[in-house]
Amino acid sequence: MFDGYHILTLTHRDAPLEIIGRAIVPSERAQQTLNDLKSRFGWSELLYLSTCNRVMYLFYDQASPEENLAARILSIIHPGLSVSEIAPIAQRMRLLHGADAIRHLFEVAGSLDSLVVGEREIIRQLREAYDQSHARGLTGDHLRLLLRFTIETAKEIYSRTGIGEKALSVVALAFAEMQQAGLSKDARILMIGAGQTNALFSRFLLKYGFHRVTIFNRTLEKAGALAQSFQYGRALPFDALEHYTEGFDALIVCTGATQSVVTPALYRSLLAGENTRKIVVDLSVPNNVDKHILPVFPVRFIEIEDLRVTARENLSHREREKSKAESIIVRRISAYRELWHERQVERSLSHIPDEIRAVKERALGEVFAKDFARLDPAAQELVRNMMGYMEKKCVAIPIKAAKAIALHTRSKRG
Ligand SMILES: NC(=O)c1ccc[n+]([C@@H]2O[C@H](COP(=O)([O-])OP(=O)(O)OC[C@H]3O[C@@H](n4cnc5c(N)ncnc54)[C@H](OP(=O)(O)O)[C@@H]3O)[C@@H](O)[C@H]2O)c1
Repeated sequence: MFDGYHILTLTHRDAPLEIIGRAIVPSERAQQTLNDLKSRFGWSELLYLSTCNRVMYLFYDQASPEENLAARILSIIHPGLSVSEIAPIAQRMRLLHGADAIRHLFEVAGSLDSLVVGEREIIRQLREAYDQSHARGLTGDHLRLLLRFTIETAKEIYSRTGIGEKALSVVALAFAEMQQAGLSKDARILMIGAGQTNALFSRFLLKYGFHRVTIFNRTLEKAGALAQSFQYGRALPFDALEHYTEGFDALIVCTGATQSVVTPALYRSLLAGENTRKIVVDLSVPNNVDKHILPVFPVRFIEIEDLRVTARENLSHREREKSKAESIIVRRISAYRELWHERQVERSLSHIPDEIRAVKERALGEVFAKDFARLDPAAQELVRNMMGYMEKKCVAIPIKAAKAIALHTRSKRG
């Protein structure tokens, strides 16, 4: 059933980012946890997406999802959380079904539902989430078909509307906030993490002339690749953080860790005795910098949650483009319904080619084997060719007929 598609999600519209962070599957246990979820709930397919402003569980299940699904999922992801800790997170999660789930997915991919509307980064994130879920053996034909169609829908939205024109990104907004704090080009910048987000951030640093950048990362090569662009760029292993004693002016933190990376003790040691006001940019969800540092040290702290106001202003410029995009989505949902039905017909008839081939083989090898053996080679070849031709034509007949019936039923439904 088309209704087999479901999405359980928590987004920046539903909750502060801090709460979203608690619905994220810790990366070090992701394979096991996602497998557990899929088998525990009997889903046939699962795609898991986590970005800086949402967590999404897209799954395919012909049965209706169970009651209290959100709470049950959270208790598997975080076995250490109590019922009373889980309840307020679960209450904010939304469960969408069938066409509503697909509409939501199209809106997410088209960046209509992003914190910064029009930011195209989401397409890459969706593709990567699909590839990762596929590599983990979690997806199948229903999600493969839907994802392909979703990416095409997003591309149509970006090309046919102005939603992505001059769009800002979360990273661009954070960088602009940091610039407002009046940081000098000679500032000593420490960066923790060398993933996609910090790579984007470092492009801004480079463009605006910052050159003293030290990057810490678990995988040193990735830090090295980013650091080499800066005149005084340096790459250090993640473990070197606790021994670093050269001080800093700005600290940029963004990793996939689901717990604090910069604890108050580490922050104090990174200060190396300096007591001037520092800039700390933490773009991780959940936060990687322990906020207990805020009342203790002089800090201008920038996090994604702060960027909502600027993001809302960005949205008001895009309202008209948003409604154009919404009409594309309505049309694409009904196009997907048709494609999906056609695919189901193909799937239900997928055994036919093998069966017809088996009939052919039996005719030649058993039923008419003796008569066939008496023919001269030219006649045998002719018979084989004729049988091959019949095989191809016979395979196409039931598929064509079934598609015609499906089309007729749909047009009668209106
Ligand atoms: N992509 C965006 O547009 C965007 C925007 C704003 C915020 N964010 C948020 O930024 C965070 C990172 O996203 P991303 O897209 O940059 O991820 P990414 O490309 O996968 O990079 C993850 C980075 O975090 C490091 N890392 C992962 N787990 C770690 C751990 N337990 N301890 C220390 N380092 C760890 C990785 O180190 P290795 O290289 O050694 O694996 C890598 O440098 C997420 O919280 C995301 O929500 C993303």
